[in-house]
Amino acid sequence: MKIVVILAHPKKGSFNHAIANMVVETLEGVGHEVIYHDLYEESFDPILRSAEIPKGACVDDVISNHCNEIANADGIIIVHPNWWGQPPALLKGWIDRVIRPGVTYEFEENDSGEGVPIGLLKAKAAIVFNTSNTYHEREMNVFGDPLETIWKNCIFGLCGVNNFYRKMYGVIVTSTIEERKSWLDDVKETVIRYFPKEG
Ligand SMILES: Cc1cc2nc3c(=O)[nH]c(=O)nc-3n(C[C@H](O)[C@H](O)[C@H](O)COP(=O)(O)O)c2cc1C
Repeated sequence: MKIVVILAHPKKGSFNHAIANMVVETLEGVGHEVIYHDLYEESFDPILRSAEIPKGACVDDVISNHCNEIANADGIIIVHPNWWGQPPALLKGWIDRVIRPGVTYEFEENDSGEGVPIGLLKAKAAIVFNTSNTYHEREMNVFGDPLETIWKNCIFGLCGVNNFYRKMYGVIVTSTIEERKSWLDDVKETVIRYFPKEG
C-alpha cells in the first residue's frame, strides 16, 4: 500500500520525530511504500493565496505533488503536537492548501458550497498521532479535545475516510524513558493493526 506520512514539529529530536520515525520504520518493515514529508524540514509554505482558492485553480508544483499523493494514498498518517488545541499553523496551512476542492472533496452539481460535500479520498484508513502536556481528564472536560473533532469530522470524515483512529500521548513534559518507549511500542502496534503486512 501507498501510505502518506506527514510530520509537523519544528524540533529535530522531539518526541514527535520519534513517533514519525517509528511510523515510517514500521510501515517499511511490513512492505508498504511510504511517502514522507517533514513539513518544517521542507520549509512548506502554509499561505493559501486568493488565486489558489477556487476548484481547479492553478497550483504550484509542490502543492500539485502533495495533492496527487494524498488523492492516490491508500493510507494517511499525520503526526503533530497539540498547540492551543489545534495543529501547528504550518500544518493548518498544509490542510488549507492540500485538502482542496476537486482533490479531496467536492459538492454536488447545483450546490454552491452550502451542502454536504462528497468525500473523494480513497484512503482505506487515516491515523493521527498527537502529543500534549495536558492530563486526559482536563483535556476532555475543560477543552473538549478539539483535535478529535477537527481531524475526525471536519477533515477525514468530510473527505470520505471514515476508518479513522487518533491517539494523543502525554503528558510529554514529565514522561519517563519507559513511558516514551511504551508509547512508541503502541505507535508500532497501531500502525500494524491498521496497515498490516503486505501480501
Ligand atoms: C505554541 C505551543 C502551544 C501549545 N499548546 C498546548 C495545548 O494547548 N495543550 C497542551 O496540552 N500542550 C500544549 N503545548 C505543549 C505541546 O503540546 C508539547 O510541548 C508537545 O506535545 C511535546 O512534544 P515534543 O516533545 O515532541 O515537543 C503547546 C506548545 C507550544 C509550543
